[in-house]
Amino acid sequence: MDQTRNEKLETRNPKEVVGEAAAALVESGMRLGLGTGSTTAHALREIGQRIADEGLGVVGVPTSFAAERLAREYSIPLVTLDEVDALDLALDGADEVAVDGAGAIHLIKGRGAAHTREKVVASAAGRFVVLIDPSKEVDQLGSKMPVPVEVLPFAIAPVERMLRDLGGEPVLRMGEKKDGPVVTDQGFWILDTRFAGIADPGVLNAAIRAIPGVLDHGLFIGMATDVLVGEPSGEVRHLKAR
Ligand code: A5P
Repeated sequence: MDQTRNEKLETRNPKEVVGEAAAALVESGMRLGLGTGSTTAHALREIGQRIADEGLGVVGVPTSFAAERLAREYSIPLVTLDEVDALDLALDGADEVAVDGAGAIHLIKGRGAAHTREKVVASAAGRFVVLIDPSKEVDQLGSKMPVPVEVLPFAIAPVERMLRDLGGEPVLRMGEKKDGPVVTDQGFWILDTRFAGIADPGVLNAAIRAIPGVLDHGLFIGMATDVLVGEPSGEVRHLKAR
């Protein structure tokens, strides 16, 4: 009985564990990409704490209105991509992570509908570190999550048809605390598109991108340089792309 109680006490929130590990990667002078979501929120809080405690000197580009609001709350100085020519380190979460046979890391992102800006920010960064808990690791992308596709509202019907032609099952994402579709930070809509396992994410990436009216989608192909996996034990596993 006592032992059970001790084990429970030692269990930590993996998102918090990995957020702390990510914040520890940050060095003064870095230009950061500030990701969106509940995991990255822990990293932003820790970075804010280091700014307050150590005078850590960083600037960050937020990937969404949500990330921008959090960064302001934690007093992380913000810049835009017009003001910096590159980023040193982007930190962000993911909904699924798969490592292919060649050691490249592929992701599904966008549960928070921020994937378009997240991809722009990650692509500007020398290092893109993904923060997850173990539930996000999969053998094949699409095992659990649909691919969020950001679509111009005017084009919603033809894009739905073309996603079906690619073997997907698109569903318009609806608001939970708002009537009607979820509207992204860009004023677009999201088609959550389930595929029965994605055997070749690179091919699907190009095919969805080629549909007129699609702004971008949540497949991140070979972009991540590192993945940090926070464990309930408090340990952090570090995967590196080959
Ligand atoms: C935002 O649109 C997403 O890409 C998130 O980064 C992703 O959904 C991970 O979110 P959590 O850290 O909340 O699981």
